[in-house]
Amino acid sequence: MPDAISAQGISKTYNGKVRAVENVSFNVEAGVAYGFLGPNGAGKTTTVAMLTAQIAPTAGHAVVDGIDVFANPQDIKRRIGLVFQESTADSDLTGRENLELAAALFGVPRKEVTSRIDSLLDRMQIGDAAERLAKTYSGGMRRRLELAVGIIHSPRVLFLDEPTLGLDPQGRAGFWRYVEELRKDHGMTVFLTTHYLEEADGICERLAIIDHGHIVATGTPSELKDRLGGDVVTVRPIKPDPTLEGVLKGVPGVTSVAVQDGSFRVKAPHGEELIPALVAACERAGVGLAGVSLKRPSLDEVFLEFTGREYREDDSVSATDRAVRVGQVQQAFGRARR
Ligand SMILES: Nc1ncnc2c1ncn2[C@@H]1O[C@H](COP(=O)(O)OP(=O)(O)OP(=O)(O)O)[C@@H](O)[C@H]1O
Ligand SMILES: [Mg+2]
Repeated sequence: MPDAISAQGISKTYNGKVRAVENVSFNVEAGVAYGFLGPNGAGKTTTVAMLTAQIAPTAGHAVVDGIDVFANPQDIKRRIGLVFQESTADSDLTGRENLELAAALFGVPRKEVTSRIDSLLDRMQIGDAAERLAKTYSGGMRRRLELAVGIIHSPRVLFLDEPTLGLDPQGRAGFWRYVEELRKDHGMTVFLTTHYLEEADGICERLAIIDHGHIVATGTPSELKDRLGGDVVTVRPIKPDPTLEGVLKGVPGVTSVAVQDGSFRVKAPHGEELIPALVAACERAGVGLAGVSLKRPSLDEVFLEFTGREYREDDSVSATDRAVRVGQVQQAFGRARR
């Protein structure tokens, strides 16, 4: 399979000083769903923005669907589909009008416009609301409308930047079902960023973890989990105890021990069976325990391993995004009052 996306050494420095993305390289095979994960400010949106010709890179080379992105920004914009992190639907247009506008922008052949719009409205289950202003839509409906806008021209590569941010689990599941259908029907390549790690685990065939503008790990979800070396048992002493690391390392079956915020992350292929031995070793060493917990390899653990940060959904909205969303809400209220 040829690569649908190829990024070679792409970098972006904002205002000559904020190094948002540095020398990032990766390839995405056609038809694959590729997930880009990373903490707030890691450089996910900046990467999407460069690959979709929304912003110019500081350095590097990128080819998307056979087109040199940085040499032909207008071609790329017409060719790819894009659903932004922030809501982009025009609130003062109806769902149908939003789609008509997109069809015109993307040069959808005139005679196909109506049938394509009708079929997308139907597929995204917003047909009943087609003639209503988008500002009356729920969050989930809006995202489905934006997905429809993003694919009105049947792109072969679809970029999704946190498309389900702020949706409830049901809304998220629904959204991904549509994306999956589109992938199956059109063999579409999907490049997505998301803060919901379980989504990435379920949808993506390959993942990259980006942190501080650098890719720190790539692989299939199971490869990344395998790289954790098994389960993680977290041992939390009542009082900080530097000797505990050595004690835990001495327990047969332990692969490694890392200290984090006064707790000890013990890796072992079979964590559950090891818990009694770990507790006994702590007792022998006279260390009182506040708690012991077991985690099977999950993307949360992978995230922690490669970024050194706990992944929390509460933190999942950056200050910029929050400001944008607050702005949108205020705007929406302002408009509603008018
Ligand atoms: N227009 C801009 N001007 C200056 N700095 C910017 C600009 N856009 C982003 N940055 C900075 O670049 C870095 C990467 O931001 P980016 O939005 O790509 O991160 P992200 O991974 O998408 O984060 P989030 O999860 O919050 O969406 C951050 O330090 C951010 O503050
Ligand atoms: Mg972002």
